[in-house]
Amino acid sequence: MKTGGRKYALVTGGSRGIGRAVCLRLSEMGFRVIINYRSNDAEAENVLSMIRENGGDGELLKFDVADKAAVESSVAGWKEAHPDDCIRVLVNNAGFRRDSLLVWMEDNDWNAVIDVTLKGFLNVTRILLPDMLVSRYGRIINIASLSGIKGLPGQTNYSAAKGGLIAATKALAQETAKKKVTVNAVAPGFIATDMTEDLDENELRKLIPAGRFGKPEEVAALVGFLASEESSYITGEVISVNGGLYT
Ligand code: NAI
Repeated sequence: MKTGGRKYALVTGGSRGIGRAVCLRLSEMGFRVIINYRSNDAEAENVLSMIRENGGDGELLKFDVADKAAVESSVAGWKEAHPDDCIRVLVNNAGFRRDSLLVWMEDNDWNAVIDVTLKGFLNVTRILLPDMLVSRYGRIINIASLSGIKGLPGQTNYSAAKGGLIAATKALAQETAKKKVTVNAVAPGFIATDMTEDLDENELRKLIPAGRFGKPEEVAALVGFLASEESSYITGEVISVNGGLYT
């Protein structure tokens, strides 16, 4: 049983936006952060530098979450290099939109969004879960979306993926609760990141009771709490961070 060693947290899609803010928050909480990213080395290096400037430490782990073989070989390599350490926190954050009305939806856009969200969740969670179960401690936090709760037009692929992620969160939470592994979902509304850069904030803010888009740090604050030991009796939940847009 690996209960000693250094405390690691793995954040998928950690090189920018919400993922970057989560990496920084977890580092402030004392975790060594494994920053997963798919392609942009410079952005990922930048997050690691920010962590080090703040007195923390971490490392980069490059793989596409939807690519099972890549996930397995990267994580196996990490485990081999860290025989005494264990990953106690997993934040499944990697994701993207490929919006289109369903009548014009291309198969590729449907499949890519489902794959990054659901296969990504499966690939990364399945490989890290056994160690959490054996050590009887773990925190799994899935970044879902308002779109997965309410459904948003133009996003049937994304709504299906995030809705599926929410259902998977609830199911897995029941499988792992006795082993003290909690599984929760965070559902952001509109958060100012690269993903929402193309949206008209001035128009959309009228729909949001708080009157503005959220900041990545406002999502990271909740993720940090769910990643902490204090959240031990919260599992299978979906918590919105959306400025009152939908409750
Ligand atoms: P972003 O586009 O700034 O960041 C997404 C990150 O995921 C990037 O680092 C990207 O490289 C990474 N990524 C994408 N595909 C990947 C793959 N196959 N393997 C590994 N990494 C991959 O977007 P943002 O806004 O930070 O989104 C983070 C999460 O929050 C996503 O799951 C998104 O669906 C969710 N979300 C975002 C909202 C927003 O308003 N920004 C609202 C609701 C949910």
